[in-house]
Amino acid sequence: MKVGFDPSRCSVSALNSLTASTPIITRRAFITRIAQTGGAAAAWAALDALGATPLAIGADHQYPGAPALPAGIGRGKKITIIGAGMAGLVSAYELGKAGFSCTILEARSRPGGRNWTIRGGDKIVQTDGSQQALWPTAPHLYFNVGPARIPHHHHAVLDYCKQFNVPLEIMMNDNRAALFQDDAAFGGKPVQAKQVINDMRGNLSELLAKAMSGGRLDGAFSKEDRERLSGMIGAFGDLKADGKYAGSDRAGFITPPGAALAAGKHREPLSLSELLKSDFWQFKASFGEGPEQSSTMLQPIGGMDQIPRAFAKRLAKVIRYDCVVDEIRKTVNGSKDGAKVVFRQSGRAATMIESDFVICTMPLPVLAKVPNDLAPEYKKAIAECAYTKPAKIAFYTPRRFWEEDNAIYGGMSWTTREITQILYPSHGIRRRDGVLVGSYTFGLAPGDDMSQFSVQDRIAKAIASGERIHPGYATMVKNGVSIAWPNVPHNLGGWAGWTDDQRATSYRTLLAPDGAIYLAGEHLSYVTGWQEGAIRSAHRAVEMIGKRVQA
Ligand code: ALA
Repeated sequence: MKVGFDPSRCSVSALNSLTASTPIITRRAFITRIAQTGGAAAAWAALDALGATPLAIGADHQYPGAPALPAGIGRGKKITIIGAGMAGLVSAYELGKAGFSCTILEARSRPGGRNWTIRGGDKIVQTDGSQQALWPTAPHLYFNVGPARIPHHHHAVLDYCKQFNVPLEIMMNDNRAALFQDDAAFGGKPVQAKQVINDMRGNLSELLAKAMSGGRLDGAFSKEDRERLSGMIGAFGDLKADGKYAGSDRAGFITPPGAALAAGKHREPLSLSELLKSDFWQFKASFGEGPEQSSTMLQPIGGMDQIPRAFAKRLAKVIRYDCVVDEIRKTVNGSKDGAKVVFRQSGRAATMIESDFVICTMPLPVLAKVPNDLAPEYKKAIAECAYTKPAKIAFYTPRRFWEEDNAIYGGMSWTTREITQILYPSHGIRRRDGVLVGSYTFGLAPGDDMSQFSVQDRIAKAIASGERIHPGYATMVKNGVSIAWPNVPHNLGGWAGWTDDQRATSYRTLLAPDGAIYLAGEHLSYVTGWQEGAIRSAHRAVEMIGKRVQA
């Protein structure tokens, strides 16, 4: 068999195995065939053998694509999918391609689940009251309450965006012009991220340089490596030739460079003892280096919900909105497992749907409350998983003061106060107005559970803390809305927070189906709290059902 693709991307050994007489099929068809017989891992191995995987740039680029089920294998088979979040949508879309007849029961009147974008005029209902987003309607005035960033290596999400023509733009996540504020350091005054990060580097590098010159590291390195290491330390910390850190242009200027004789003067460095007093070094200064947080980050133009909307358009006949599930039961038809789901649509009388399989994508705190006859070990595992308690607060701002006054374009400012951080929109840059995320907490003290406060208290806290970062904040932010995920019906939490012990026990229990009932969602992945995890988990459920039907 000969594979028709760019030989420049093909390994020599793979090219050598081709002969003039082998029939040509496309690489896609070839890989699809392997995926159908051997699954996604086999397809990946085949790509790898062909030299077509970008391994040289890291394993985080492994994406074999959605499982390629043989066309028509689902014919005559019914599947009920609970939830039109990312896992449910992906499951229905992929299974539908293989001929399965899918129905998604969605409790809300919109798709997306936690992928939720609020725009001017939208109503927000939580267990602790109702709110309305009172701001004008414009494409740049939106608030992503759930997912708000797509890392560059989340290939499954990015792949669907490409397939469905969902346009993306850069999402600025980490911004050196943003601010750090700590009540215990620097007189409580905000300092720029570029100063904190570079002065930390400079101070640490000076210490290392001292240890080097004092001969304390001599035994550990050859003479040649010692010289190189000195160079590396100097470059890393922007040290003077004598190994001293005396501040750096990287940390920002007090007098900016300009025309003629304006050479510019950088800031005096922040002292190590003051930096040590702050909590910046614990994780805030390196947050933007995290595996899921580092540049490049992306977002759909016009709001994160462009992704579920693109699915929903293609699944218009499959999704039934406003259907709240009351019960999930197993059925036996002869020797065959099946399942039935009892639900109420728009509050009407309960009705029931029977199918060959169920894929339940409900968040576990919600599933825990739905009567079901899952085996006792499933029930125990479902009840055991604690969810994070994230909350966000958004404000309408008639003026983009962070851009105009601080030259902050996207990214986050951090604080030790309850709000934890302010996130600046990467969309609508340099427009007149904007929607600012005035707080995003996700289980970090002190703002680890905003859901315990009333909506008004949360907003008041956000205004008071914001004032410490942007003086005059109280007069510049308007019409706040606050969503605390533990209080959001049909979610009751943020994302799964499995412990290491649970990963070895309960988590594994839920990975296997119970009869005809499969679970899927971010909670069944190691990419918890991300759409990528939900999609990969859905792919797995699709693959398992495909195999079972073919067996
Ligand atoms: N994906 C979530 C975030 O980036 C956890 O905040």
